[in-house]
This record gives sequence, structure tokens and C-alpha cells, in this order.
Amino acid sequence: MKRGTQSQGQNITVGIDIGSSKVCCAIGELMADKSTKLLGIGIVPSKGMKRGNIVHRDQLIEQIEKAVQSAEMMADISVERAIISMTGEHIRCINTVGAVALNKGSSPNLVAEHTIMLEDLEKAVELSQAVSLPIDKDILHVLPQEFLVDTLEFIKNPIGMTGRRLEARVHLVIAATAAMQNLKNCVEELGIDFEGIVFQPLASSLVTLNDDEKNLGVTLVDIGAHTTDVTVYNGDAVRYSSVIPIGANSITNDIAVMLQIGLDTAEDIKVKYASAKASMASPELKFDLPVNNGGPKRSISEHEVSRYVEARMQEIFQLVVREISKADVKGKLTYGIILTGGGAQLKNLTALAEETLGMKVRLGVPSRISGIDEVAPNPEYTAALGLLLWKTQSEDYNHSFHNSAITIKDVSNKVGKWFKEFF
Ligand SMILES: Nc1ncnc2c1ncn2[C@@H]1O[C@H](COP(=O)(O)OP(=O)(O)OP(=O)(O)O)[C@@H](O)[C@H]1O
Ligand SMILES: [Mg+2]
Repeated sequence: MKRGTQSQGQNITVGIDIGSSKVCCAIGELMADKSTKLLGIGIVPSKGMKRGNIVHRDQLIEQIEKAVQSAEMMADISVERAIISMTGEHIRCINTVGAVALNKGSSPNLVAEHTIMLEDLEKAVELSQAVSLPIDKDILHVLPQEFLVDTLEFIKNPIGMTGRRLEARVHLVIAATAAMQNLKNCVEELGIDFEGIVFQPLASSLVTLNDDEKNLGVTLVDIGAHTTDVTVYNGDAVRYSSVIPIGANSITNDIAVMLQIGLDTAEDIKVKYASAKASMASPELKFDLPVNNGGPKRSISEHEVSRYVEARMQEIFQLVVREISKADVKGKLTYGIILTGGGAQLKNLTALAEETLGMKVRLGVPSRISGIDEVAPNPEYTAALGLLLWKTQSEDYNHSFHNSAITIKDVSNKVGKWFKEFF
């Protein structure tokens, strides 16, 4: 493998987004002013994944290698460790609660003197993970939502406060252990140290959502090739996340079946001519279709093809609405919906989404990282770029799976860091 000439210093982060249609490797540098700059990016079509599952391991490893290699060449850095993304039908979320009594050992009239310490908080968060999981599942993320001290609610940082009881409310993301282990092995087989796995839409959210959106309520919908990931934010925390096992490739399949053409041609037609709203496509503008086995010449209008596309996208949006309704944040999605992922680039998709979902909708393109304008400006890059911010900006602070070398001290440092960043 041709590698960059410089080794990966401590300020260099590498993210590998392993999607169903492409593998994208991003190399970023944490600058002195705490901003992140993109140094290199490599993107390779993926055929080794389907719906978030590895279907062809050798091909996947080869594609990861190529994506890493091309990012290395651009950045002139040799990749030594990386954080990777994943999605898939096997991913589930659950909101849980963990509580600790704060007055152990004190006399009743000294109760109010007990000051909440980092250890109390850690204990509450640890207890929130005491859920019974199927044998083949593991916790991928532990994302704090808020803390309660006695009856006081919505506390983001209870350290230093006093009370009798501390309760942690957290959002757990749960994934199949084998899926995580197998992705980890693929990366390690290339001699790259594994730094952790991130659920794809959580990575995307770091470069697409702003603080007001996360606070006042928004849903991020990441439309990939085989999956559509839904993440609901409110009160500065993730309230709900899920994976719908249908993505933008289903539109390509529909076009191929309806017009009796190959998938590659159908993909071209989708990107060039299709509109998510048929009424915004012209019945007069026609394009030629490939001739089938010496049959007659065929052509179809942009309007006609867009009718199939609109029907499929409406179906996907109905499923999104169903997922949002499970989040129990009715009336709290002030900022509506943000669409990201490659599938969000379909023409007039935001117009269709606004009409179907009855909410404000905008396109989520990557931001918050310098140097992306020329090389990675589109929504399909959001997950890879978000991975570059994960270590410094995410609020995830447990991990039984990420790295077995993680110690309690690491976890507490992370909690401490999170709170320092928060205030
Ligand atoms: N300009 C475009 N117009 C319409 N669709 C597009 C466009 N560009 C990409 N797509 C579609 O976006 C999808 C790929 O999106 P993305 O790269 O986010 O997927 P992925 O991350 O590899 O997949 P997944 O998240 O499901 O694992 C494909 O279905 C592709 O056809
Ligand atoms: Mg994706």
C-alpha cells in the first residue's frame, strides 16, 4: 500500500464511514484553536455491505484499503488508527434510568450536606446500563439526556449540587456484537488500530446540526443506500434513534424494474432526471432508454419516471413519521427535519418532505470543519466527517465494546471532559 510520508500524530484523527454504497475515509487535524481541518478524503464504491451487514468480507477489506490509501495520499499521512461508523437493522435504542442514594452513612439531618461528586454520577450512569440484553447484543453508546436531583429535573451537570437521590436518564444504543466485532476485524486486518465504532447518524449529526436545533428539537434523517437512519433530538440530547431498512437504492431498483433496464442505467436516470415531486418534473422533457434485445426505440418523460420516485419516497417518509411518533416528543420538534446522506440529494426532496411530513425541512450538508468546500461538500460525506469530531465533541462516555483497553479512569476522564465542555 502506498502510504503518506508522515506518521499519524496525536492531533490527527481518521474516520472511516462504512456504508452500503461507499466506503469513505476522512483524515482531519485538530488545530490549536480547537477547530478541525480536513486534510484528506478517499471515497470508494462499496459492494461488501448490504443493509449494514457485511456480505463480502474480502471485497469490503479491499475497498476500505483503497479509501484509506487515497485519503493518505491526499493528506500525506500514513493512517495508524481510525474510528469507524456503522448502521444496520440490528441497531436498537432504549431510554433508561439509573439512580443512586446520596445519603449513605450520613445521619438523616446531614443529608442535605452531601455534595454530588463525579463518582456518584458515574455510578448512576453505570446503573442505567443494567438492562437485560439478548446474548448477541451489546451496548454501543451511552448518551446522557439529563440528571435529576430529588425532584429537580433537567439538570445537565449535577456535580456540586446536594440532595438525597441522583437519577441519570440516558439513551442507550444497542447493536449486534458480531456486527461490531466483524467490522473491527476488517479494519484491524489492514494493520489499522481500532479506536471505536459510532452509529452513523450520530456521527452525521455532529457536522449537520447546530446547538439550537438539538436543544429546541429536530429530527435528523440520514438517507443512505440501503438504510434510512432517524435520530430525534430535544433538550440537547438524543431522545430516539432507529434504522429503517429501506434507503435510496430502493428508488433505483423501482426504476430498473418499471423500465426493464439495468441497475447502473437506473442509477444514472435517478441522479440525472428524477424529481422527488413529479409535479415539478416536465412531461415534455423526454430522454431515451436503452433498447431491449433489438426491440423498438423507447423514451420516457422526466415526469413519468418521477412518479415512481415520488411514490417510493413517500413510503420512506411515512416510515420516518412512524419512527418520530415513537420518540414521544410531540410538538417539540421546533426545527422540523434535517435530511442528510447521499439519498437526500434527490432533486426537490425537501419540497416533497415538507409536503408529506408537514414540517420545516432543510438539507443537512457538512459544516464545522474547514477545508471541506472543495472536496467534501455533499450530504453523503456527513458521517465520515462527523467521525473526525467524535472524540472531542461527542457525549458518549461508556464503552464496553469500543476498546477493551478502556479503563474506569478513561471513562471518568471522559465524563469530566464532557462536563467541562458543557459549561
Ligand atoms: N445526486 C443524487 N441524486 C439522487 N440520489 C443520489 C445522488 N447522489 C447519491 N444518491 C444516492 O444516495 C445513496 C447513497 O447514499 P450514501 O452514500 O449516504 O449511502 P451509504 O452511507 O453508503 O449507505 P447506508 O447509509 O445505507 O449504509 C445511493 O442510493 C445513491 O443513489
Ligand atoms: Mg450512510
